[in-house]
Amino acid sequence: MRILFLNGPNLNLLGRREPEIYGRTTLAEIETAVRRLAAERGVEVEFRQSNREGELVDWIQEAQGRFDAVVLNAGAYTHTSIALRDAIAATGIPTVEIHLSNVHAREEFRRNSVIAPVCRGVICGFGARSYLLGLEAAIVND
Ligand code: DQA
Repeated sequence: MRILFLNGPNLNLLGRREPEIYGRTTLAEIETAVRRLAAERGVEVEFRQSNREGELVDWIQEAQGRFDAVVLNAGAYTHTSIALRDAIAATGIPTVEIHLSNVHAREEFRRNSVIAPVCRGVICGFGARSYLLGLEAAIVND
């Protein structure tokens, strides 16, 4: 099984970005933890980050036939990107939406996800562990 982790805008700044909200773990450290769990579970993972919406759309399209599932932290595009939603719907690739923070406990505008309706499920609020839970959820295949 192959799982693609995609990270959207500003997640490259994790570790020093609003640490009181997102914690002090860097994206590289999260990737290491994800790879460790993936090895235990016997699955392959690829881990990418982009600040550009179109690049994320390209990666979702290209995932078709190459990956079994996507774990997506779309960052702020979660709340705005019809293009990402359409890419997930168009490819039909099983996608798990994840967030470090509990988006429902923050500003009103973060409560709405335009991608959630086309995702298999949503995990949010567990900090860096949301990525590990996202991996476990992506492995569930029923
Ligand atoms: C985030 C939540 C989003 O609202 C925000 O724009 C982010 C990070 C999270 O992981 O908590 O960039 O996706």
